Amino acid sequence: MFFESHAHYDDPRFDKDREELLASLQENGVDYIINVGADMESSEASVKLAENHSFVYAAAGVHPHAAGTLNDENLKALEDICFRPKVAAFGEIGLDFYYDHSPRDVQRYWFERQLELAERLNMPVIIHSREAAAETFDIIKISNVRNGVIHCYSGSASMALDYIKMGFCIGIGGVVTFENARKLREVVKAIPLERILLETDAPYLAPVPHRGERNNSYYLKIIAAKIAEIKEISIEEVAKTTFANAYKLLSIDNK
Ligand code: NI
Repeated sequence: MFFESHAHYDDPRFDKDREELLASLQENGVDYIINVGADMESSEASVKLAENHSFVYAAAGVHPHAAGTLNDENLKALEDICFRPKVAAFGEIGLDFYYDHSPRDVQRYWFERQLELAERLNMPVIIHSREAAAETFDIIKISNVRNGVIHCYSGSASMALDYIKMGFCIGIGGVVTFENARKLREVVKAIPLERILLETDAPYLAPVPHRGERNNSYYLKIIAAKIAEIKEISIEEVAKTTFANAYKLLSIDNK
C-alpha cells in the first residue's frame, strides 16, 4: 500500500532491531523501501541491505555534508556501486548551506559532477537542499538531469511547480505535520498528487505526534493522512497515487 521513497535503515539507531522492524514493515503495508546512501560507506551499506531484503532498493550517492570526502577515485567506485542490482536511484546529492559541513564551492563542484554521472548512467536523482533553494535549482536547471525527486522539499510553491515542469517529483515527509510548516502545506495544496512521493527520512524528522522520536516507515500513514486532509481526498487515494508515482520514477520493474 505504501512506497517509502527515502529512509536510512543502515543508520546505527536501527542496530538493535533492524531485522525485526523491516520484517514487520513488510507485513504491515510498506511494500517498497528506498534506502538512501549519504556517503561511500552508507551507499555500500544501502546496497547490502537491498540485497538482503526483497522489498528494499538502494540509492547511492554522496550528501553535501560529505562532499569533502569525494575524489575521482571515489566517484569511480560510486559508479561501480550503481551497476549493482537493486540500485534504483542516485542520491542523496545536493547543497546544504545550513550546516556547511563541507565548504560551499566543494559542495557545488561535487553536486555538479554527481549530476553528470547520474545523467550518464541515466538514473533518477534524489536531491537534498537546505538553505540553498535558488542555487540548487540553478545547478539542476543547467544540468541535463530531468528525472528525480526533490527530497524533503522546503522551497516555495512556485519553485515546486517549476521543478515539476522540468520533470521532477516533490518528496513530502513528516515536516508537513509540524505546526510551523504552513508554507509546506501550501506547496502540497498547489502541486498535483501525481508528482508527490511519500518519504519519512527515517530515523530523522518523525511526524507529529512522534516529533523528536526515532522515525520509521509506519509513520508514512500519518504523512498520507495530512496530505489527504490538505487536498480533501481519501488516504487511500494518496497512498495509491504516490505509490504509482514512486514505482514509475524509480523504475523498480527493471531491477
Ligand atoms: Ni535523507
